[in-house]
Amino acid sequence: MRTLDDIDVEGRRVFVRVDFNVPLDADRQVTDDARIRAALPTLNRLRDAGCSLVLAAHLGRPKGVDPAFSLRPAADRLAELTGWDVILAPGVVGEQVEAFAHNLEPGDVLMLENVRFEPGETKNDPDLAAAYGRLAEAFVDDAFGVAHRAHASNVGIVKHLSPSAAGLLLEREVATITGILSDPPRPLVAIVGGAKVGDKIGVLDTFLSVADAVLIGGAMCFPFFRAQGHEVGASLCSDDDLEPARRVLADARQRGSRLLLPVDLVLGDRFAAEAERRPLDGIDVPEGWMGLDVGPRTAEAYALEIEAAGSVFWNGPMGAFELESFAAGTRAVAEAVAACPGTTVVGGGDSAAALKAFGLEDRVTHLSTGGGATLELVEGRILPGVEALST
Ligand code: 3PG
Repeated sequence: MRTLDDIDVEGRRVFVRVDFNVPLDADRQVTDDARIRAALPTLNRLRDAGCSLVLAAHLGRPKGVDPAFSLRPAADRLAELTGWDVILAPGVVGEQVEAFAHNLEPGDVLMLENVRFEPGETKNDPDLAAAYGRLAEAFVDDAFGVAHRAHASNVGIVKHLSPSAAGLLLEREVATITGILSDPPRPLVAIVGGAKVGDKIGVLDTFLSVADAVLIGGAMCFPFFRAQGHEVGASLCSDDDLEPARRVLADARQRGSRLLLPVDLVLGDRFAAEAERRPLDGIDVPEGWMGLDVGPRTAEAYALEIEAAGSVFWNGPMGAFELESFAAGTRAVAEAVAACPGTTVVGGGDSAAALKAFGLEDRVTHLSTGGGATLELVEGRILPGVEALST
């Protein structure tokens, strides 16, 4: 994959694809600006090289032009963080936007409106990609979070702008995540949690072959328990996940991989902050109860594995950490990851949110900005956004 070191963009107008798909509250204020901050090293480097910037990003999944999905909050936050005068374009492409782009002076920053306002964006439409091409003279992709999508603003555009390369964030994400899979300091411990085995099957396949131990948590442990003949009560456990769980158990047995499952749980009578809570020293969940967290013996055993690891990859919480009564297992894992002296990579989404909720986000080696992109990279898939910059 080409990087900024491979190209010369000094003084050029650069189209920069960023992932500013950030959460907003009811007042449309950005509640987590990590993705915006993560793009700053690239934006600073380009501005320091005398470039003017045309920033492109998406927000949510709008159906056509919809002011509720405007990138105004992200543009404002970028301006607040940097002190730059960030101009929000009146649209995505077209004559008016081109006029704004062509008038940019070195250091100026123009943010396009939500690229998904254009129906051609997610279809990788060649005409839209050509229209993006008319806005700038070079292309830099720093949007790791969308690298698993083949869209016009990260893949189609490459045909229309040269030179093109990955920004510093995309480069670091790919290098760190592939690095932990190909040559990890040992032992490598993978912690895989979350709701569904089906969503993580590719990730489990990868780690059963490369990790020294795979620790399972979250509701995805219940299909495993059911496959082993245990009672799961009212726990989240879809029939569709039974077969994948059986397959993973058989694979682990065959390969001799260490696949660790919880040995105790914390139960609730429903999924709610005010639910009745009850510890269970075991894993057979009685009727009318659901497992909402791993228990203290599990948390302690997992923490010991994590703290002794040479490298750790964590994706997915251990339980319903957003409810205080069921947060202890996820907190224990987050603290152990933070305390681990080895290389620690946290794979975006809910585990990143958990780490932030416990104030530990600065205590890991790498907190990925990707959700689906991180998982697909771990699964060993070729990401279209990366491939486009490699040919
Ligand atoms: C994300 O939030 O994971 C990325 O921005 C990709 O968004 P998408 O799943 O809507 O393509």
